[in-house]
Amino acid sequence: MSGEYLEAAVETAQEAGKILLEEFQRPALITYKGEVDLVTQADRRSEEVIVARLKEYFPEHAILAEEGSGREKRSRYRWYVDPLDGTTNFAHRYPCFAVSIGLAEEGELIAGVVHNPVSQELFAAARSEGATLNGKKIHVSAIEKLATSLLATGFPSHKRAQNPNIHYYWDFTLKSHGVRRDGSAALDLAGVAAGRFDGFWEFGLKPWDTAAGVLLIQEAGGRVSDFEGKPYQLGGHVILASNGLVHEEMRRVAAQIEKKVANS
Ligand code: IPD
Ligand code: CA
Ligand code: CA
Repeated sequence: MSGEYLEAAVETAQEAGKILLEEFQRPALITYKGEVDLVTQADRRSEEVIVARLKEYFPEHAILAEEGSGREKRSRYRWYVDPLDGTTNFAHRYPCFAVSIGLAEEGELIAGVVHNPVSQELFAAARSEGATLNGKKIHVSAIEKLATSLLATGFPSHKRAQNPNIHYYWDFTLKSHGVRRDGSAALDLAGVAAGRFDGFWEFGLKPWDTAAGVLLIQEAGGRVSDFEGKPYQLGGHVILASNGLVHEEMRRVAAQIEKKVANS
């Protein structure tokens, strides 16, 4: 059943990806939602097309979309839509951004797509059916130690000064092969699913940032939790996603950093 939903999500993400590429050819029309929280015409146009498609295909489903054009509804099914993940990159013409579309049935993620229209990569997953990149099965990495891992993280575009992540960034950088910060949480999560990154963490992500990526990682054999090891809830305070093998070591390091920050 989730196959039908996945197919619709893939088709819709590809259509939205074309709009993003078209918009990327011209100077971005930027407005601000907060201090450094940007929104462009591309975010809005992409969301318009995704929400229109989902409404047409699944009139009974609820839709939570970042720019607010979704549809609140009592339904077993809820779509999570980030029409442009990586808006800051997009606005600065840094070609690293994605469309992210996830679907939950009664709170359980069942389909997810992350599409990078620049690299023409499409990551997809359906519950119990595995994860793919452009149709080929993907799996998380086999790296066992933090010391030989490549990690990713991100920083929020609002309330930056209150965010503790710089401390985590510092310590994890010294304890691994490095920490990438590429400005698209959806692509970071897809990167873990594809074995490019061994672990990822971030504070304050929204359900539309993570819904598709979380399913990708679970279906690619990885693990997603909070820093206490409890299952990650969409919209939770912090997400820790990994290949499963470095998970406990990352949790231990995070706990040490938390103590250090509390005592500073
Ligand atoms: C942002 C990106 C970024 C993350 C921010 C998100 P947006 O999403 O995913 O990587 O660090 O927390 O808000 O605003 O570009 O859709
Ligand atoms: Ca986002
Ligand atoms: Ca966005």
